[in-house]
Amino acid sequence: METKKFSNRLIENTPEFCDWVEQVRNLNMAYTLETGKTRKFKIDVFGCQMNERDSETIAGMLTEMGFEEVSGTEPADIIVFVTCCVRENAEERIYGHIGALTAECAEHGSFIVACGCMMQQPHVVEKIRNSYHNVKIVFGTHNIHTFPELLHRYLTTRKKVFSVWEKENRIIEDLPVKRAEKHKAWVNIIFGCNNFCSYCIVPHVRGRERSRSMDDILAEIKALAEDGCKEVTLLGQNVNSYGNDLGEKDLFARLLYAIEDIDGIKRVRFMTSHPKDLSDSLIDAMKNCSKVCNHLHLPLQSGSTRILEKMNRKYTKEHYLSLVEKIRKAVPDIALTTDIIVGFPGETEEDFGDTLDVVRKVRFDAAFMFIYSPRKGTPAAKLEQDIPSDIISRRFKELVDLQTAISTELAKKTEGQILEVLVDGPSKQNPGVLSGRTRTNRLVNFRAEWIEKGDFAEVEIIRAGAFWLEGRGVRKIG
Ligand code: 5AD
Ligand code: SF4
Repeated sequence: METKKFSNRLIENTPEFCDWVEQVRNLNMAYTLETGKTRKFKIDVFGCQMNERDSETIAGMLTEMGFEEVSGTEPADIIVFVTCCVRENAEERIYGHIGALTAECAEHGSFIVACGCMMQQPHVVEKIRNSYHNVKIVFGTHNIHTFPELLHRYLTTRKKVFSVWEKENRIIEDLPVKRAEKHKAWVNIIFGCNNFCSYCIVPHVRGRERSRSMDDILAEIKALAEDGCKEVTLLGQNVNSYGNDLGEKDLFARLLYAIEDIDGIKRVRFMTSHPKDLSDSLIDAMKNCSKVCNHLHLPLQSGSTRILEKMNRKYTKEHYLSLVEKIRKAVPDIALTTDIIVGFPGETEEDFGDTLDVVRKVRFDAAFMFIYSPRKGTPAAKLEQDIPSDIISRRFKELVDLQTAISTELAKKTEGQILEVLVDGPSKQNPGVLSGRTRTNRLVNFRAEWIEKGDFAEVEIIRAGAFWLEGRGVRKIG
């Protein structure tokens, strides 16, 4: 087994972490000597990009401890669930997946590790403890770094180990990471959220805002670039408040300018931006930084000022529309995407009409649309749901139909255009074709023998639908 060194900072600041990793690695070496086998792991990720990035840390820790990731449908000894609780159907799916593994666990002697947002809720942990006996280890979002210790305890005692920290921890830099991709990477810039939108569980499970230092972020991106990474996506529940907790103003815009100087990085994306914090300096940075892609995800949630107030969003319909005008003036070819919730308690036909009105006025390239889901512990969960479910379904369908028509119309405009695409590799749906993303984040499928994953291509768009573009590879451009 290969031995890797930890950074001096990790050894100095978090010696116990390094120690537990070594101890589990020793257990695994003994296991391999005894059985001739290596223990395998598999990770199932649910939810947002923050969870995707966390799963890369978990994969990094497991690899460092001497486990190997399974390939294909091979059975695993450890199955890790990185969970999401933003809506009830996410939780239901996760319970379903965990339950469905009962036979596999019995057959292969495997066990389940459940971690992430859902585990920060005490009622979930109780349910898992009482009803899902293959789940042997549970930890939350604030103590990912204790995973090696918990794993060691389980492997040596075979007793369930449940450990969830209530409060957020300091940021631990330099934890091991096994990146899913080489050509593009997620980079955390801020953890947690201070906004407390009334429907949202995230601040309750991810804690208060904590920004990474700009030096650490830039050092990480430089190292990624040296390793062949071409696109970074800066992550945070609200990237626009990056640096506020460090006592700095407009640090996010400064970060974007600083990334301009990193050789090798060709594209910068970020998400998510809260409209109340979208500053003029950020809009200027988006205009001036050539690497920042012309795409902005700006969650609307509702077009009704009355509902926005009940949601504690701190902006009005008019303010949102004026922001869109401002950003379009600065970056005329920008693609705008959004999140919208339908059926928030008290939403009237008039309120819903305001949402449709904003959708018609802004003409988003794409929208993630959700039916409101009450989340235990949030202020909105105490509001009575006074809208009949058939009305919510009708509104949801009306919104989806409108948005799909707009997305299709906007996509059609790309037919005949030649666009820059960063190739992600064979398409998941059809491995015979390549897929990649435009700078506006549109998915493109195309055929070309002369290009590989991680390359940039010019692609001529032949056919366009709401969710994908079909193209013809023209030439490789990098
Ligand atoms: N119900 C429905 N949608 C929600 N979202 C967050 N909380 C809820 C909820 N309780 C949506 C918001 C957010 C996205 C990530 O999930 O639109 O922007
Ligand atoms: Fe949730 Fe609002 Fe924070 Fe986004 S900004 S994570 S919707 S509380």
